[in-house]
Amino acid sequence: MNLTREILATEEINNTSHILDVGCGTGQTAAFLATHYKANVTGLDINPIMVEKAQYRMEQDQLGVEIIQGSIEKCPIENEKFDLIISESVLAFVNATSAMDEIFRLLKKGGRFIANELTINHELDAPDKEEIKKFYGFDSFLAEEEWLSLLEKTGFKNIYVHKPQYSLQENNTITEFRYSDSIEPKLFMVMMQHFINMYEYDGTIDYRIYSCTKE
Ligand SMILES: C[S@@+](CC[C@H](N)C(=O)[O-])C[C@H]1O[C@@H](n2cnc3c(N)ncnc32)[C@H](O)[C@@H]1O
Repeated sequence: MNLTREILATEEINNTSHILDVGCGTGQTAAFLATHYKANVTGLDINPIMVEKAQYRMEQDQLGVEIIQGSIEKCPIENEKFDLIISESVLAFVNATSAMDEIFRLLKKGGRFIANELTINHELDAPDKEEIKKFYGFDSFLAEEEWLSLLEKTGFKNIYVHKPQYSLQENNTITEFRYSDSIEPKLFMVMMQHFINMYEYDGTIDYRIYSCTKE
């Protein structure tokens, strides 16, 4: 959340802004945007459990944030609705080309897109790459130049990239978890393997902040 606050601090956001949080998860960023800026916020997530948790958060905090279940690859929202779209750790899991086309369609002219997304610093060996892609279900496992090229091809302008000071491994320690009451035991093993991966691939699997405008 510290990084999210930092990224958003340089954007022009106020109570007239319409914002979409793509892959909103439990709704932490969406809630922050609604509380701190009084913005009109929509959260979109494909996973029904995440949608339920985000809706619960908005009800508890009495925030008028709409949470929609759907995919950013083909999204059930009308054209040019948003001034700002944010995605945090989402696009690696989806077909990034389809998702970016949708994000472009959903933005108003002059609208901003900010993505905090997984980025590889250098190519992995083919078997390691396949293993990681399979483990996480990654569709788009891209390097910085590939993300930038995709943004440009989609039609975005004023494209900037920022490499934060802290690695994924260092930043992961401050993640907020909202555990479900019952979790399948095998999922704890998945979580353990995730922490091992983060340690093993520290310096290779990284992230960047991309920002751009639809003119
Ligand atoms: C790593 S989590 C990030 C959640 C949140 N953005 C955050 O930073 O805490 C990725 C989220 O993307 C969602 N997601 C995956 N594929 C999606 C899709 N096609 N459309 C919308 N959301 C998707 C997942 O359900 C999950 O909640």
